[in-house]
Amino acid sequence: MAEKKRALTGIRATGQLHLGNYLGAIKEGLKLQNEYECLYFIADLHSLTTNKDPKALREQSLDIAASWLALGLDVSKHLLYRQSDLPHVTEFAWYLSCVTGVGYLQKAHSYKDAVAKDKEVNHGVFAYPVLMAADILMYEPDLVPVGKDQKQHVEMSRNMAGSLNSLYGKELLKLPEPKINEDVMTIPGLDGQKMSKSYDNVIPLFSTEKDLRKKVMSLVTDSTGLEEPKKLDGSTVGLLFELFASADEYQDLKGRLSAGGLGWGHAKEELFQAINRELSEARARYFELREDEQSLQQTLAEGREKAMAISIPILQRVREAVGLPPFIRG
Ligand code: ADP
Ligand code: TRP
Repeated sequence: MAEKKRALTGIRATGQLHLGNYLGAIKEGLKLQNEYECLYFIADLHSLTTNKDPKALREQSLDIAASWLALGLDVSKHLLYRQSDLPHVTEFAWYLSCVTGVGYLQKAHSYKDAVAKDKEVNHGVFAYPVLMAADILMYEPDLVPVGKDQKQHVEMSRNMAGSLNSLYGKELLKLPEPKINEDVMTIPGLDGQKMSKSYDNVIPLFSTEKDLRKKVMSLVTDSTGLEEPKKLDGSTVGLLFELFASADEYQDLKGRLSAGGLGWGHAKEELFQAINRELSEARARYFELREDEQSLQQTLAEGREKAMAISIPILQRVREAVGLPPFIRG
């Protein structure tokens, strides 16, 4: 039997998971389970560029693990692991660093964004795409399901693999297919900008029902009066509603809003109901799984072993190619 293709993605532990992460990365990732062997990990090393709170890092890593499980990642067939549990990823990043120009890294959006927004620009922020390339290339995935904002990073990983291959042998590293799901748009947040933990505009994936309603109700809308006709298409409420409601439900709400006499408050209530319908069962499972920390740690330990089995042979191959002795696991 031909081996299954592999899909890989990581999520940083830098705050509460939100609907942008769910729609942009997790939901897409879950859909791949039949066709691919899925390797999904918690990018805790990447989190350190901004997350300097050890307790939060630990807790948020477990939140991500419980979220994947609650939403249906089947760990009997797929891998769920913590990036830092496989420390040779940082070793591998070094080999990539040594073939990657400073000028090239200065073009990364993540770096440019940190500079433009006057955020802390530490070396981790600068080297971020190199570590991400190592995450990818260590496991030879065919596909990397990420939101559009990460597309450039995935392309950079292809280029880094190309540089290493042209120096040390064409077959050394497999290039991940640049197939990134273009249909997944950037999910807007409460203020209409990209939903992001860094912008404080998120609707959390798993909070209480009450909090979810409150958040949805605080979505920005225009100030059209109650009686006036309103346009659902292109509004933040509309963009989100389209992703959680059926096509019929969307057309129905669109019609009622454009007729006038229906306020944004009503539309938001319907949006809340649609989100809640999709997430309420998983939310209950999430809170149950999150309580049992030991079992989460056990799942991550199993993921680590499977991830080791895939990555160590690749590491050995690279070590040999660059002229280093084999790594001996103590
Ligand atoms: P954040 O921007 O909140 O820090 P991350 O950078 O940790 O989120 O993103 C984790 C995953 O979720 C990535 O694959 C990213 O592309 C996706 N993602 C994050 N925010 C959004 C969004 N607003 N729309 C679509 N996808 C998103
Ligand atoms: N950089 C990604 C983000 O900010 C997270 C990430 C780290 C990742 N390593 C990865 C995603 C490897 C895909 C593949 O969202």
